[in-house]
Amino acid sequence: MRTDMPVTIRRSDYAPPAFLVDTVDLDVHLDPAATEVRARLALRRNPAAAPDAPLLLDGDGLTLLEARLDGAVLAAGRLQFGPDGSLTIADPPAAGLLETTVRIAPEKNTALSGLYTSGGNFYTQCEAEGFRRITFFPDRPDVMSRYTVTIHADRGLCPVMLSNGNPDGSGHGEGNTHWVRWVDPHPKPSYLFALVAGELVNVHDQFVTKSGRLVSLNIWVRRGDEDRCGHAMDSLKRSMAWDEEVFGLEYDLDVFNIAAVSDFNMGAMENKGLNVFNTKYVLASPESATDGDWQGIETVIAHEYFHNWTGNRVTCRDWFQLSLKEGLTVFRDQEFSADMGSRAVKRIRDVRGLRAAQFPEDAGPMAHPVRPDSYIEIDNFYTPTVYQKGAEVVRLIHTRIGPAAFRRGMDLYIARNDNQAVTIEDFVSAMQDASGVDLSFFMGWYDQAGTPEVTAEGRYDPEARRYVLTLRQQTPPTPGQPEKKPLPIPLAMGLLGPDGAEMPTRLAGENAAQADTRILILDNAEKSFTFEEVPAPPVPSLLRGFSAPVRLKGVPRDRLRFLAVHDTDPFVRWESGQQYAASVMLEMVAAQQRGEALGFDPALAEAVTNTLAASEADPAFAAEALVLPGEGFLADQMEIADPVAIHVVRRHLRAEIGRRCAAALRATYDALAESGPYRIDGRSIGRRALRNACLAYLAAAGETALAKAQFDAATNMTDSLAALSLLSDTTGPEREQALAAFHARWRGDDLVLDKWFSIQAMAARDDVIDQVRALYAHPDFDLKNPNRARSLIGAFASGNPARFHDASGEGYRFLADAVIALDPINGSIAARLVGPLGQWRRQSAARGALMRRELQRVLDTPALSKGTFEKASKALL
Ligand code: TRP
Ligand code: ZN
Repeated sequence: MRTDMPVTIRRSDYAPPAFLVDTVDLDVHLDPAATEVRARLALRRNPAAAPDAPLLLDGDGLTLLEARLDGAVLAAGRLQFGPDGSLTIADPPAAGLLETTVRIAPEKNTALSGLYTSGGNFYTQCEAEGFRRITFFPDRPDVMSRYTVTIHADRGLCPVMLSNGNPDGSGHGEGNTHWVRWVDPHPKPSYLFALVAGELVNVHDQFVTKSGRLVSLNIWVRRGDEDRCGHAMDSLKRSMAWDEEVFGLEYDLDVFNIAAVSDFNMGAMENKGLNVFNTKYVLASPESATDGDWQGIETVIAHEYFHNWTGNRVTCRDWFQLSLKEGLTVFRDQEFSADMGSRAVKRIRDVRGLRAAQFPEDAGPMAHPVRPDSYIEIDNFYTPTVYQKGAEVVRLIHTRIGPAAFRRGMDLYIARNDNQAVTIEDFVSAMQDASGVDLSFFMGWYDQAGTPEVTAEGRYDPEARRYVLTLRQQTPPTPGQPEKKPLPIPLAMGLLGPDGAEMPTRLAGENAAQADTRILILDNAEKSFTFEEVPAPPVPSLLRGFSAPVRLKGVPRDRLRFLAVHDTDPFVRWESGQQYAASVMLEMVAAQQRGEALGFDPALAEAVTNTLAASEADPAFAAEALVLPGEGFLADQMEIADPVAIHVVRRHLRAEIGRRCAAALRATYDALAESGPYRIDGRSIGRRALRNACLAYLAAAGETALAKAQFDAATNMTDSLAALSLLSDTTGPEREQALAAFHARWRGDDLVLDKWFSIQAMAARDDVIDQVRALYAHPDFDLKNPNRARSLIGAFASGNPARFHDASGEGYRFLADAVIALDPINGSIAARLVGPLGQWRRQSAARGALMRRELQRVLDTPALSKGTFEKASKALL
């Protein structure tokens, strides 16, 4: 157990930095075992801070070799080292040049934060607090400086040396060394610093901005990966053009570099002019990448590029404001992807993702507002709430004020805050001032955790031809926030007539009817809306396009069936089908728990047949509609989840649908057989998704041979993997053959091998835990590589609820063992993996006790990282 209690950082304690750093001059002498970093900081007292505030420089694991102030060596007596590795300089002048030289060991850096090596090359990751692992610095985002970086290294070791900004000279050094200088003209916080060096090759292209600036685009990869960068480069160019067109935002340097690395904690990082990417979000070929991978690349490339303005030019004052850049940038990348493909399908996928990850978080022990009030380890707050719910809140504002005012608001936000570190209030006030709409009430969405529950009740008066719709909201309590207030909820809606046609709507007091979707603002615990001149009892269609991140509850089943067929809004059509199926499935789960036989609701088979019959128009939408609600989604609807019963029910239904609809499924499957080359346009992706959805039902009904045939014949990873994942649920010899063939073919490709691990970790077999333990000991398993660790441990704990929650508790024990082993290597990834154990309150008492025991075991581990400590201790509270 930790003896020192880690410190809690509070938003209310914010104080401006004591000193500002106008310029940073870095000289980095690269060596895997002993890199020397010499920093020259032009410091001055911040007029906005207390005049006697100490000069504190963050540091973490640095060996100080020398410190000088204005040229004079600082005596040891003026240097005070904190227990966390920081350095305080006594009696600081009002302004001066501080020079420090430190030594670090990149090859020993397994946390992958700061400067580290991967495959012999050097990479940095500084967000959130990694720069302090490179040099002594006030490592907080409200200290913005102009950087000049000179990198020195052996020519053979590092032929390529990159940093932020534009290149500014290079030359020979001593012996076989050389140096390269980079100058970033834009002031930036330290978390956006980057350095990449080593043996890298580049794929080059260029982009001409709308004002005629020529930008050199480069993707830097290891030799052999050059031919897998085309899609990333295309996505980058499309992102650059889109941001100019939609937001008028243009790139602001001569070069844009992307470096791909296979050891990386997250998806990618938006360092100014030098994005660093997990290879997963750069490299793709038809044989090795699934359609989901292609879409992931497009999204993440766009996301990081869009940060250039929302994050880099305008940055965060402190880490509590993280959603200022992340929520807004996710919103922007969602809009970009919607414009590149099908808006409706994109929205469905985003909502599916929000519900799978954010809703459970908001209902669990780590529930926090989009703008948190406190943290122990900021790494733990790069969450679905900050990212995805944050994007939903930006979308609420967009919905409330409309796209034109939103665009003016963005212009104003950037004009007012360029080159500054600001807060969420600065964003909201720009939107408010540009639109003239009072948004002060919307701040509640940033400050209150939990998912509001909305119910609707309608009353129709045929005499008066009047329809009164009463909406109510209520938010369950979350840790630290027992009382919840009502939030302003924009509810996009319409009314359908008994024939299914959209009825024009006119609210009492309005002069004219509105023909299509309108927005009601529910800004109280309860509010009624009166519609006049309603000719027949209407069916309300609510929450069109998922206009707010809420749970709409209590819609009766007959209405769901009606809306699933008739609504004009594709999201509500999809949603109603899903909610209908979920309601049937939850009833079956209850039956299963009572030991009763599982029946079958023929309406589900009917819906599948109808979806298949109409699938030609939009195969991607049909594929989304065909997939039954996921196990996690169902568990999240239950007070106390029953993962095994949920799994049994979902499996039963898939098999039953597969049998009853076999002919139609098979006909669609055959009709969609691919001919010609692999293409990744929306329609082709949709056709593959639909075909594989059909295959999944057929395989569930016993058609293993069909899956095996597809696996053997597949020429692209989407079809190959879809078939393999179905085979992995089976017990016959085809399974072992296919897994062995896949391993033999792809053992040299890390990204594909990750999929091989994941598929087995998520398989629906009784012996999965034994297999997962065996895979953990497999020679290709590597706990140090975050992608690989996630592909096995994360996939099992989050992607296989029925087996993770095995009544024996073995799944929990495996996860705790893995977390304890990983924590000293990479505390940030270990802390992320703890998550599933924190859901114990939503499990049965017996499971909950087993989960708590494992959490306690994690917590009792000596020298636990503060991130893992925070997750495990909050989960146990
Ligand atoms: N800012 C990055 C993004 O959203 C996220 C990120 C990348 C990150 N690497 C990290 C966050 C390491 C914390 C730690 O695009
Ligand atoms: Zn981001």
